[in-house]
Amino acid sequence: MAFQREDIERVRAATNLVELVGEVTKVKPSGRNVMAVCPFHQEKTPSMSVDAAKGVYHCFGCGEGGDIFKFVEQTQALNFNEAVELLARRAGIQLRIDPDAQKRRGERESLIEAVGAAIEFYHERLRKADDAASARRYLRSRGYEADIVEQFQLGYSPEGFTALYDHLRNDRKMLDKVMEKSGLVARNQRGRFYDRFRGRVMFPIYDLRGDPVGFGARLLDGEGPKYLNSPETSIYRKSNLLYGLNWSKSDMVKQGVAVVVEGYTDVIAVHQAGVPAVATCGTAFGASHLDLLRRFTERVVLAFDADEAGTGAALRGFEHSVPGDLDLRVAPLPAGRDPGDLVEAGEVDILRQAVSVESSVPLLQFRLERELDQHRLDEPEARGRAIKAAATIVARHPDMVTRHEYAVFLSRKTGVDLPVIEQAVSRASRTAEREPAGTPAPEYRTPESGRGRAEQEYLRLMLANDASLAGADLEPEAFADSKHREAFELLRPIIGELEPDAVPELGSVIGDDSGEVASLLRHLAVVDRPLAEAPGLARRITVWQLEDRIKALQTQLATVSSEEDRSHATRELLGLLEKKQQLLGE
Ligand code: UTP
Ligand code: MN
Repeated sequence: MAFQREDIERVRAATNLVELVGEVTKVKPSGRNVMAVCPFHQEKTPSMSVDAAKGVYHCFGCGEGGDIFKFVEQTQALNFNEAVELLARRAGIQLRIDPDAQKRRGERESLIEAVGAAIEFYHERLRKADDAASARRYLRSRGYEADIVEQFQLGYSPEGFTALYDHLRNDRKMLDKVMEKSGLVARNQRGRFYDRFRGRVMFPIYDLRGDPVGFGARLLDGEGPKYLNSPETSIYRKSNLLYGLNWSKSDMVKQGVAVVVEGYTDVIAVHQAGVPAVATCGTAFGASHLDLLRRFTERVVLAFDADEAGTGAALRGFEHSVPGDLDLRVAPLPAGRDPGDLVEAGEVDILRQAVSVESSVPLLQFRLERELDQHRLDEPEARGRAIKAAATIVARHPDMVTRHEYAVFLSRKTGVDLPVIEQAVSRASRTAEREPAGTPAPEYRTPESGRGRAEQEYLRLMLANDASLAGADLEPEAFADSKHREAFELLRPIIGELEPDAVPELGSVIGDDSGEVASLLRHLAVVDRPLAEAPGLARRITVWQLEDRIKALQTQLATVSSEEDRSHATRELLGLLEKKQQLLGE
C-alpha cells in the first residue's frame, strides 16, 4: 500500500459512492438504494444497486461489485493508487506515503532509472559512434532528421555482447539484479550477463506518465526478428502500454480523436503530421488498450495497412469491444500503404483525409461490409448465412436506432426485405441477452433451500445492523454453508463495535476483495427486500443446527459398541431433543 491507511479511509469517508456512480452512468432511486445502469456490461434497464451508506455497489446482471476505489479503477482504467489519488484530489485530502511502500516504489524507480540510462547510452551511440553510421544512414533514408531522433530519443544498440552492460555497471554503478529485472540484459547458460538488444535501431517506449519503461528495437540487417521488444517487466506491461500515448494524449483531448496505427515508425510519421497516434508494442490491440484511450477521447480511428493481414489483425482486438461509448472507426488507406509510407512520401493530406470523420467508416459498418464480402449474395442460402452472421454483429450494438439504421444498410446491400432483417437482428439480440458478455455472475442467487435462504437473511440483518439482532444469538457453527459462516465471522466483530442500527461501512472491509465471500456480502448488502426479525430467524437456524447434530448422533448410536459411548450419546441426544422442542415452542 503506497498511502497511509488512515488517509485512504478519510478519502472514503469524504466520498459519496452514489454521486460517483451518477457521474458516469444513469442512476435512479429505488427503495433504500439507488439503481444504476451498469457500466460494466451492456444493458438498458438498471441492474446495478448502489448503497451509499455501506459504501458498496453490486450488479445483479454481471456480478461486478466493489467500493469507491474499485469503481474508479474500473471505469477510468486506473490502478488502486491512482484511484486513491484521484478521489483524494476531489475531496481535497492530502495523502501521506506509507514508509513500507517505499521499497516497492524503489524498485519501480530503479528500473525506470536503468531504462533511462540505457536510452541515453543508445542515443549517444546513434549520434556519435562510428559503428552507428549505417543506422544513421538508414534513419536518414526514411526521412528522420536530427529533430525526430531528438524528440523520440532514438538510439542505436551496438553489436558485441556487453556494451550496455559494461557501461551501466562500470559508469553508472547499476546492480545486475536491476538491469536484469528491467529487461535490458539477459543471462546466458553459464550465468553471464549479455545485452538483449544488439545492432538495432532503438525506439524507447514511455508509459502514460512519460516514464521510460522499455524498447522496441528494429533490426538493421542480418538474422533475427525484424522487431525485438522488451520482455514483460514490472514496469513494462504490453497490454497496458501504447507507444506514443505520452506524446499524443493532450492532442487527443484537443482534437477529440486517437489514431491507432500498426508500429513505431507509423506513430512517429503520423505524429509529425500533427495527428495524435499510438500503436501497441508488439502485441494485438486489446480491450485494455481501448480503456487507456477512452480516458482521452471518444473517437478512435484505426489506420492500419489496408491489406487483408492488417485489417484482420486490427479487428481481432475489437471483436469483443462494446461499441456505443466509443466511436470506433476505420480509415480507408490506399491498398498496400501504411500511414508511415504516406507521410514519408509526402502524402500527408491523404492520411489526414483518411482519418477524418468524413472519410473514415464506422467500425460496425466496416465489419458488416467485410462479412458480406465473404458470402455470395446471389444465392439464397448464402444470403441467408450472410444475413445471419451480419445480424449477430448488428445485435451487439446497444442503441435501437443504430441497430435499425444498420438493418436498413443490410437490406440495401443484400436486397433482402427490411422486416426480415429486423427479425434476424432481434432474434440475434435475444440470443445475445441470454448469454451476456463478460464474466458470468457468481452463483449466489437466492438459495433453493429454506435454510440457505434463512442464513442469508440473517446476514442481511447483520449488514443492516438491525436492532432486532440484540435479541438473537448465533454461533458460526450454526451456518451450514461455509461461505455464510465466513461472512458471519467477518461481520460479527464489525457490528459488535457499532450502535444498533448504525449501518456498517463495508467498503473498507470487502470493497476491493474479489473473493466469493466479499461478492456475496456486496450482493446481500444491496438487496432491497424487507428484513425479517432476528430472533425468529436465529431460532430457525439453530433448530436446523440441532437437527444436524441429532441426525449425526442417531447414526452414531446405530453403530456404537461400547456401553459407555452409548449412554453418553443418548444423554446428549435427549438434551438436544428437549432443546429443539423448547425452541419450536417459543
Ligand atoms: P511492421 O513490419 O509493419 O514494421 O510491423 P513497421 O513499423 O512498418 O516498421 P518499418 O517501417 O518496416 O521499419 C509493425 C509493428 O509490429 C511489431 C512492431 O511493433 C512493429 O512496429 N512487430 C513487427 C514486432 O513486434 N516484431 C516483428 O518482428 C515485426
Ligand atoms: Mn508497417
